[in-house]
Amino acid sequence: MKRTIIVTGGAGFIGSNFVLLERLRGNRVINLDCLTYAGNILNLRGLEGDPDYVFVHGNICDRDTVRQLLEQYRPDAIVNFAAESHVDRSIDSPEDFVQTNVVGTFRLLEEAREYSMSLSPKAAAAFRFLHVSTDEVYGSLGPQEQAFTEQTPYAPNSPYAASKAGSDHLARAYYHTYRLPTLVTNCSNNYGPRQFPEKLIPLLIMNAIQGKSLPIYGDGLNVRDWLYVEDHCEALHLVLEKGKPGQMYNVGGRCEKTNLDIVGTVCALLDELCPDSSFVPHSSLITFVKDRPGHDRRYAVDCSRIEKELGWKAKQTLSSGLKKTLDWYLDNSEWVDSVKTGAYRNWVKRQYNMD
Ligand code: NAD
Ligand code: TYD
Repeated sequence: MKRTIIVTGGAGFIGSNFVLLERLRGNRVINLDCLTYAGNILNLRGLEGDPDYVFVHGNICDRDTVRQLLEQYRPDAIVNFAAESHVDRSIDSPEDFVQTNVVGTFRLLEEAREYSMSLSPKAAAAFRFLHVSTDEVYGSLGPQEQAFTEQTPYAPNSPYAASKAGSDHLARAYYHTYRLPTLVTNCSNNYGPRQFPEKLIPLLIMNAIQGKSLPIYGDGLNVRDWLYVEDHCEALHLVLEKGKPGQMYNVGGRCEKTNLDIVGTVCALLDELCPDSSFVPHSSLITFVKDRPGHDRRYAVDCSRIEKELGWKAKQTLSSGLKKTLDWYLDNSEWVDSVKTGAYRNWVKRQYNMD
């Protein structure tokens, strides 16, 4: 059955990949996005002229806009990706994070609650509010500690993680208090096509192609659990279809790597894919830079629940996922050029003191 889904933040990295997946599955998508520096309308260019895809330029903090969309499109679900998502920016200017991530999610929940009260009991029970969150809410692990489970207490360390934790608690509370059928997913670091180059992997790829330095914070031994974005989107689709309201689901790649492992693999793959580049070996571009304040040492996600209860499993390995990612960045020079202009350039200049 064709469903109507309001996706917020659908012009960003994960949101755009999710919109494309839902259109392939035949669902109608209404994408509400205010297009911050991270929102790129080119991400969904392939859907131009698609009658089952609607883009709405608006802010999740604006209750009138949200109410109007709910009344007009009568969705079966809301999937909330809209967020300020970069840790370094949250250290620099945390207020936007509280505004969008906490206040924006609260306003969406309030409008969803009112909307669900206008539905028949059957439709209200079938409605879903899926809030997309992060493993960073659990804090940092020591080298020998067990991976995060859904029972791990929240201990967010950055303003970004704290703002996501606040919004997760609100989503949970709306289930327990009002029985709004909310679900929360907490996923690990995503990578793949259409990721804005402020995050590690696209930054490394874009810099390496241009022969710019590859900045590695601190000793490069911080560990992240890497997940290919399409595997994440499949998990979200399953949670929407089969997840239990009120429940949290961890999503991870079972792929713990240090940042040095990542930069080494990206450089080796680029050497193979672009053997004639004058920057071979690309690893000569690696530069150690000042560490991020309060830099979390290790994240690792135990995703047994979603594997056992919903039958999800990540399909890509790091090498297959990175190969697809590199191919995408090499084949999409128009997209790459578009993000090399404007706000992105200013940000990169300020963060790394380079052009
Ligand atoms: P992104 O920064 O690429 O995209 C965010 C999108 O939200 C952009 O299109 C932006 O324009 C939009 N947006 C921001 N504020 C808005 C507002 N107030 N109203 C409407 N739209 C707004 O982010 P992403 O990497 O795609 O992440 C999506 C979600 O997944 C976020 O909630 C993030 O916390 C979560 N997450 C991301 C990762 C990751 O590795 N990227 C990992 C775990 C969780
Ligand atoms: P990032 O992609 O910003 O994701 P997060 O901080 O949400 O995990 O960073 C991933 C890791 O890479 C993290 O340990 C910080 C590190 N990093 C660098 O070493 N250099 C960089 O230029 C960036 C952006 C990140």
